[in-house]
Amino acid sequence: MPILQAANTSGILLVTLSRPDALNALNIETLDNLHKVMQEAYQNSSIRGIILTGDGEKSFVAGADIKELSVLNPEEAFILAQKGQSLFSYIENFPKPVIAAVNGFALGGGCELAMACHMRIATENAKFGQPELKLGIIPGYGGTQRLAQLIGRGKALELILTADIIGSQEAKSLGLVNHVVANREELMALAYKIMDKIVARAPIAIARAIASVSAGYGFEGAGYAAEAENFGACAGTEDFKIGTIAFINKEEPKFTGK
Ligand code: COA
Repeated sequence: MPILQAANTSGILLVTLSRPDALNALNIETLDNLHKVMQEAYQNSSIRGIILTGDGEKSFVAGADIKELSVLNPEEAFILAQKGQSLFSYIENFPKPVIAAVNGFALGGGCELAMACHMRIATENAKFGQPELKLGIIPGYGGTQRLAQLIGRGKALELILTADIIGSQEAKSLGLVNHVVANREELMALAYKIMDKIVARAPIAIARAIASVSAGYGFEGAGYAAEAENFGACAGTEDFKIGTIAFINKEEPKFTGK
């Protein structure tokens, strides 16, 4: 997937995920490209902060690429979950501020990507959710952990188990989103306004503040390992085939429990 990059004179890098035919869904190539972009931004001392967004008005990121996911066996799905977790953990622990500017659908891996960023701002038309259970699988890029951290276990389980999609005002009231604005123009203006304020602070203190907040939410617990394992296990079920094929054929899935 092409990833567009544009840095301004204050060292704020705008990273735009652009795969319009698939609502900016994350295929494996995109995960790899995004990791590379982040590593380059890490090494580039002139970059002070990153704003992450999706191309177009309709979607931030509509999840992992379901067509690519549908053919994975359990072992491959487990490895993919570890890959997504590793990239999103890299973002969560990034020593420069990362803001998600959510301009539409942030579903599945898109919601997980936004949650890995240090804060989220969204347009009125943005939609959030972890709809993986509709596909016969679970969130696999850290969503089972970060959603519970951000909005509490009960509400996280409600969203994950119902696969409900919520609007940005509800997401804000739950603490998933920091600010909601009317449109794309206001979104980018606010993202830059917040980032300008942050990058005026002391860079070492910024990095150490992020490291301190993130330290309490790391990989040490059993949660991320369980998530990757369970994501892989789901990929071995009949319901996973039923769910992903139904999405591709634009039908409602009829699960069998096998
Ligand atoms: N993976 C691959 N392709 C995707 C995708 C994804 N996650 N999300 C959307 N697309 C593709 C669609 O297949 C469609 O392609 P087509 O034009 O070749 O048929 C195109 O993007 C537009 O999507 P469409 O479903 O027609 O748009 P919509 O406005 O009717 O619905 C969504 C938008 C986001 C509600 C719907 O696309 C959706 O549910 N996507 C999947 C979300 C999801 O489950 N994410 C978690 C994945 S693990």
